[in-house]
Amino acid sequence: MNALNTPNSLKILVILGSTREGRYGEKPAAWMLDQLNAAPGIDAELVDLRDWPMPFFNSPVSPAWTAGPPSDPLIAAWSAKIASADGYVVVAPEYNHGYTAVLKNALDWLYREWNQKPVAFVSYGGVGGARAVEQLRQVAVELKMAPTRTAVHVPADVFMATMKVTAAAAAVTYSATPWVKDAATNVIAELTWWGHALRAARQQAAA
Ligand SMILES: Cc1cc2nc3c(=O)[nH]c(=O)nc-3n(C[C@H](O)[C@H](O)[C@H](O)COP(=O)(O)O)c2cc1C
Repeated sequence: MNALNTPNSLKILVILGSTREGRYGEKPAAWMLDQLNAAPGIDAELVDLRDWPMPFFNSPVSPAWTAGPPSDPLIAAWSAKIASADGYVVVAPEYNHGYTAVLKNALDWLYREWNQKPVAFVSYGGVGGARAVEQLRQVAVELKMAPTRTAVHVPADVFMATMKVTAAAAAVTYSATPWVKDAATNVIAELTWWGHALRAARQQAAA
């Protein structure tokens, strides 16, 4: 919970898109969560997909064409969690030049809950996870989301150094890497702008 919150604060969910044992994604997720919660007017929360063991999508109908809460209690809770937010930061590993299956499954289970909200990305890998993020932008548009221009791409050398626990590597941090820190600042600014603009538009449309 952000001490700088106001009733107008934006609720941002940081979705950790890796569930594998020994995952690296926890580190950038925790750091991005701190960056968001240090920003005035943002109330950010971590959503760990390990806590949401959803089955592979098996609904006979796309969530884009169904109304009302899902019948599966876990999916219904997932629906409520995602619906509660004004925007998202997806922490996206790159697997075989794409994004993770667990992340796609989590996205596919819902539709309207994602609509008309901004989404930003934090990624890492050989090319900073750029290929995974570019694919995710396409999916986000189909889910009627507004992907931000800026993403946080942790460069390969920073990724490798922060993966290790040696004393030399400990000197390398996200905050001390301008490429990463500046990108996070820009992501927060873009999420804030889109978050307020789209929340106002959703409220107007619902009135
Ligand atoms: C199945 C698999 C495929 C991978 N493919 C890529 C890849 O295409 N590009 C890349 O930069 N890293 C790739 N990697 C390395 C990941 O960047 C690295 O394992 C990273 O830690 C994965 O994120 P995670 O630990 O949060 O799951 C791959 C890793 C796995 C497990």
